[in-house]
Amino acid sequence: MSKNQEENNMMEKIVSLAKRRGFVFQSSEIYGGFASCYDYGPLGVELKNNIKREWWKAMVRQRDDVVGLDASILMHPKVWEASGHLESFTDPLVDCKDCKKRFRADHLLEAKGLEPGYLKEKPEAINEIKCPECSGQLTNPRTFNLLMKTFIGPVENEAAVTYLRGETCQGIYVNFENVKDSMRLKIPFGIAQVGKAFRNEITPGNFIFRMREFEQMEMQYFVNPKEAKKWFEYWKPLRLKWYQDLGVKKENLRLREHGQDELAHYAKEAWDIEYNYPFGGFKELAGIHNRGDWDLSRHSKFSGKDLSYTDPETKEKFMPYIIETSDGADRATLVFLLDAYEEIRGGRTTTTESSKEVEVVLRLDKRLAPIKIAILPLSKKPELEKVAKKIQENLWGTYMTMYDVTGSIGKRYRRQDEIGTPYCLTVDFESLEDKKVTIRDRDTMKQDRVAISEVLDYIDDKFKS
Ligand code: GAP
Repeated sequence: MSKNQEENNMMEKIVSLAKRRGFVFQSSEIYGGFASCYDYGPLGVELKNNIKREWWKAMVRQRDDVVGLDASILMHPKVWEASGHLESFTDPLVDCKDCKKRFRADHLLEAKGLEPGYLKEKPEAINEIKCPECSGQLTNPRTFNLLMKTFIGPVENEAAVTYLRGETCQGIYVNFENVKDSMRLKIPFGIAQVGKAFRNEITPGNFIFRMREFEQMEMQYFVNPKEAKKWFEYWKPLRLKWYQDLGVKKENLRLREHGQDELAHYAKEAWDIEYNYPFGGFKELAGIHNRGDWDLSRHSKFSGKDLSYTDPETKEKFMPYIIETSDGADRATLVFLLDAYEEIRGGRTTTTESSKEVEVVLRLDKRLAPIKIAILPLSKKPELEKVAKKIQENLWGTYMTMYDVTGSIGKRYRRQDEIGTPYCLTVDFESLEDKKVTIRDRDTMKQDRVAISEVLDYIDDKFKS
């Protein structure tokens, strides 16, 4: 199998696992699907919530200089004029004259190993490129705005136009004063938010990598301009470390600085945390941006409200610079799934069926795993099920559990390994006598015999370490 085939194969496997086991479904599937919108199933919603919870813990709850916010998706349309999105939030679009498919010109150049800025200097460069689908001729590039338009109120006219937010951080900037004053905050401080963003992406794709409706986890750190570089260098490694601490392999992550021609309209300096995806190698997972005073200056100008800051001690007055950390909850979900996926050929359990098969183990960090502990009574005998149900009820409220009584125990272990469940608890006939159960570890496959009365403490202990 060629490298390309293997890479496509890997994405196919993840997409198939995601659907089969209830992580991610295509939106509106019964109507033939809705391009680049996805629905999270019962396990996907747990995984994504766990990712968001870990992010919130690291960025808000375990810090005394960052607070949270949940701003509305719909905002005054002037916000998007001030932010520069109406003018500059565009992608260069080309159409194939033959098959009529649309592409992002910068992506086509990138695939040829050319820099995105090349197109600005030499727009005719696109004529040297053929349509990747049918080898037809492409049109000249034209700009395409990514903001999604909607109407507010009963009349659909220009006065009623607003936009679904293209990035969550604008809700933070317009609340800068509200949050600072209500929480009596002094610079430097940060405001964090998790929420939906919308972009009319031209060439979405690669599953949940590029969607039209997605979720961002953003933190805006307001600093004295003199200290912007210091804080930028502080947040950059910290965000990378967050992914590593949650189990993403070091060799699959890297930091890359944006070239001058790549910088977004608001950025003075930008670095991406990149992941080595099975489609095309290292690409963006998250970003760290020095937005300078762009946002607060523009909102001051467009709203007429001065958003500058006066240091209470030194009386120095300045427009705060913003160091932004911007992560995508969906892209992070994809990365955690891809990085955790492992196939074991020939099987690792001793059952005869398994030794012929490829076993899948999703080695998700236990904090992220959707199901923390599976409860598996050895048989459907009522006396076993009664004990098993009682154990499950005792774990409810603290741990997400799954009860499974169908199939051989080997099959049930494999079903749990495939969704990343770190612990499986088996109730057997001996349990009725010795009041103990067997708890099996997903990664080491080590089995411990634990007193039923001590199951909660045993699991607590595992989740502490
Ligand atoms: N506020 C800055 C900002 O929005 P960005 O680089 O455009 O910066 C930040 O987006 C992150 O949001 C990306 O690194 C990615 O994780 C996620 N993201 C952006 N567009 C996305 C899309 N169409 N689908 C899924 N995630 C996306």
